[in-house]
Amino acid sequence: MQLLTPYRLGPYELKHRCVMAPMTRSRADGDRAVVPMTAIYYAQRADPVRGAALLISEATQVSEQGIGYPATPGIHTPRHVAAWRTVTDAVHAKGGLIYAQLWHCGRVSHSSWQGGAAPVSSSAVAMKGQAWSANGLVDAETPRALELSEIPGVVAQYRHGARCAKEAGFDGVELHAANGYLVDQFLRDSVNRRTDAYGGSPANRIRFLRDIVEALIAVWGTSRVGVRLSPTNAFNDMRDSDPASVFVPAAEMLNDYPLSFLHVLEGRPGSQLAPPAGVTPIAALMRKAYRGAFIINGGYDRESGEQAIAGGAADLVAYGVPFLANPDLTERFRTEAALNAPDPATFYGGTEKGYTDYPFLATR
Ligand SMILES: Cc1cc2nc3c(=O)[nH]c(=O)nc-3n(C[C@H](O)[C@H](O)[C@H](O)COP(=O)(O)O)c2cc1C
Repeated sequence: MQLLTPYRLGPYELKHRCVMAPMTRSRADGDRAVVPMTAIYYAQRADPVRGAALLISEATQVSEQGIGYPATPGIHTPRHVAAWRTVTDAVHAKGGLIYAQLWHCGRVSHSSWQGGAAPVSSSAVAMKGQAWSANGLVDAETPRALELSEIPGVVAQYRHGARCAKEAGFDGVELHAANGYLVDQFLRDSVNRRTDAYGGSPANRIRFLRDIVEALIAVWGTSRVGVRLSPTNAFNDMRDSDPASVFVPAAEMLNDYPLSFLHVLEGRPGSQLAPPAGVTPIAALMRKAYRGAFIINGGYDRESGEQAIAGGAADLVAYGVPFLANPDLTERFRTEAALNAPDPATFYGGTEKGYTDYPFLATR
């Protein structure tokens, strides 16, 4: 199988093409530091042959301002760094690789996480639906548009998170520019109504992404910085009037560096994060536009992942829920073993149950 062939990702020799997608598990402590069971969870999936060739961490906030949910971890204080160090040490002890996903929620946040102030975004456009407050789900609030003069400070939050990730022993970083969080709120025109250099034309909407990528590269160098984009999904009430007009130039812009990878989440037809009715998939156009390593994600299994690699649609396939429920997913692909069934009730928050207790193949 092509899916099981090695791949050179910048400085790293991957043993196969199966990557673990970033997944929020909401089990951090009161200081938003990851807990001991989190090191076990990632280490279980870190075997470079039987597990993921590369792990991408759950989204982790680069600042207090970036918080948007209960019990999600941060990567901006010495305690966060020390806690993540236990994870990276455990992953490295298994011979694995792990990137930190750097996150700022923007308008998906709530004033209860912001000292009573409104959350920030590209523009003062509220998300339809509910947001997580410190007291549970509530109607989403209207965010405050960032002033032009504040943007360098927000970029600096990402730079600080990148430095902390380096100190914590990660092997690289993935910028979370997907799923309706802050960077995506600049990219897509259902939110971005700015009239300054960060709004309007696609080139202007891409500018915030570019600024952050440059900040991350200043810390990590190009070959250890990846970017995740979700051009067509509607998660967190997102839309663009013409996704290809902004996401294809965004992919082209990233050729300037070149990065560790471009990771595109565009769910396969019928999967949860598939483009909504009437929206044309564009991952193939982005693949064509981007000359570096390309990761595809969203509803893939063994067969469709193999097709994606063999057909040239991607270099690597990220699996989310399949890795959540199967720590030795790649070994199961190799041996055509059955997969464990995921338990959605334990995806977010809770104990070891549904976190570190998914069984390995019996032969182990
Ligand atoms: C429990 C859960 C948590 C997730 N958290 C994140 C996250 O923190 N960052 C992110 O970019 N995507 C997140 N996602 C999306 C996944 O990375 C992935 O795109 C999605 O699960 C589709 O891939 P799959 O069909 O292989 O599971 C999450 C998905 C799930 C199921």
